[in-house]
Formats: sequence, C-alpha cells, structure tokens
Amino acid sequence: SGRGGDVWDDEMSSSMLGSRLRKVVQNYQAMNKYGVQLSGPGGVSSRPKLSGPELLCQLKDNVEVTTLTSDLQPFSALPWAAQLPPKPLTSELGPYKSCAVVSSAGSLRYSGLGKEIDSHDAVLRFNAAPTTGYEKDVGSKTTIRLINSQVMASDDHRFLSSSLYSSGVLVAWDPAPFSADLTQWYNRTDYPIFTQYQRYRRLHPLQPFYILHPRFEWQVWQRIQDNMAEPIQKNPPSSGLLGTVLMMSLCEVVHVYEFLPSRRKTELCHYYQRFYDAACTLGAYHPLLYEKNLVKRMNQGSNRDIYTHGRVTLPGFNRLNC
Ligand code: C5P
Repeated sequence: SGRGGDVWDDEMSSSMLGSRLRKVVQNYQAMNKYGVQLSGPGGVSSRPKLSGPELLCQLKDNVEVTTLTSDLQPFSALPWAAQLPPKPLTSELGPYKSCAVVSSAGSLRYSGLGKEIDSHDAVLRFNAAPTTGYEKDVGSKTTIRLINSQVMASDDHRFLSSSLYSSGVLVAWDPAPFSADLTQWYNRTDYPIFTQYQRYRRLHPLQPFYILHPRFEWQVWQRIQDNMAEPIQKNPPSSGLLGTVLMMSLCEVVHVYEFLPSRRKTELCHYYQRFYDAACTLGAYHPLLYEKNLVKRMNQGSNRDIYTHGRVTLPGFNRLNC
C-alpha cells in the first residue's frame, strides 16, 4: 500500500500466508518427492543478499537452457529418436528483440493488455491458456507455448486434438528426480510425456516441438533456494519462472505480465476459468512465492509498471555484461 501502489515485496515469506496455505507449503517443504539435496556450506541464511544485477549474472552463469536432441543418449538408441529435433531450441529460435511472457493469472482479466502484449516480437504462453475470446486482455499472438506433462496427459485438455496447441512452437517439460540421469528419468517420469510426445509428433509432424532437459528446472530451483533466507518447497519451479528464463535466453528484453500481481490482484486462479484459490498466485506445490521474490529483485522496470500493468522488465542474457 502507499502511493507507489501495492506491489510485491521482495521478502515475502511463508509466515505471511494464511494458515491453510502455510500448512500445505510446510507439507511440501517436508515431503521431498524428488529427493532434493541441499548443497553448499552453512545455513541458508548465512549468504549475503545479492543485488538485482548480481542475481541476473548468477542466473545467466548457472542455468543452461537446453532441450533434448535426437543425438542425445539414451534417446539416440530408441526407435523414435528421429522425432526429437536435431538441434536445440536456442540455436533454432530467436534472437528476438522484445518478448512477452503471459502468466495465466486471473488478474489479466479486464487488464486491456492485449495490444501491448501483441506488439512484442515473440509471445510465450502457458499450458491451456486460450487467446480466443480474451484478445483484449491477453492478445492473440502465440510464438511459444510452454506445457507441462500433466496437461499433455490429461483427458480434459484433449492435448492431441485441441486446436489450442497447434499454433507456435511447443516446449514441454516434466520433473525428474533431483539427481537422476536421463535414463532414470525416462523410466520414471511424473506423467507419460514421451508417449504423448510421440503421438503428438505423428499427428502434427510439421509443428516444432521441444522437450526441456530436466536439469534446467533444477538449476533454476537452485538459484531460487540459494537466494532465499528460508527453505523453499523441494519441487520444481512453476512454468511461469521456467518460461521467463527460457525467454531471457532468446530475447534482448523480456516483459512478464501479471506474474507479480498488479492492482488487479485477485484470487481468481486463471483469466480463463471460474476457479478461485490464492494458492495459484502464492504457490503451494511450486516455490512460487520465492520465484516472485527473485523476479522482483531482478526487475529493471518501475514499481508503477507492476502496479498498473502487472509488468516486469528483465534483460535478455545476451545483453548482460557479467
Ligand atoms: O497454472 P499455470 O501453471 O498454467 O499458469 C502459468 C504460470 O502463471 C504459473 O506457472 C505461474 O507461474 C503463473 N501464475 C501466477 N498466478 C496465477 C496463475 C498463474 O503467477 N494466479
């Protein structure tokens, strides 16, 4: 609150959540489904707090945006290897000048941001987020769609047949165990990403379709944990942060919409569904609260931009002099 408007404070902690969400987050912090091992010396709070530019350089230096290619073991030995792209995403797409990352937050509803979003050279959207019927608020251009393996596998999303997924470049991801190699992951994915990938490729052979290397998700997770004063959920980051980092590797400048909530902040989960839950904005399974703290610290735009447009401005990795 105050005249600068109510924007995300970069030190949000689980103690600021309501008691229901706090318990859910505590459960996830304890569960450790993926066998995450905390690295580094000493306690989590002993490190100095890095500045925005330092965080940006740390992200650039420690996170490798990679995708699976047909020559990569163990895939290269499988009969369907040729369905995977021969080259990684970052060598085939971009560089783009200006990009938009459109979170699916309910606060995009009635935002009127559609024109601004479409004015960027490339637009990234997530999962089942539609544009039809919502053009005024979210625009209509889709350059890349980042989808999780749950959406690919669930019956209600009709991933194989819905036209929602047929424009732009698809990028899919599925969480691997923290220290697993590709073979261990291949034999134990969260959802059947590879079966669905092969089916989709047979039906839409001309549409570019990439799969993120699961190491990428944990590298991003490590950047969050290393820069927070408390333990974060031992689950992969949300699509929102993964897509933002992906675009930072393809674009000169990245604008993220309604990831840090504007004055339109609402418990409406998605702009396209009538479902209300504060966990969508604050996180439960994903360490979303901490992802937002990190993005707030790296933001190069003004707090006013966040308050009015829900807009954060981040430099692309190529524009950083680290
Ligand atoms: O729900 P879904 O993962 O498809 O949404 C895409 C991303 O948008 C999320 O991963 C999250 O980062 C962001 N989001 C948000 N607040 C919401 C809904 C989504 O920050 N209320």
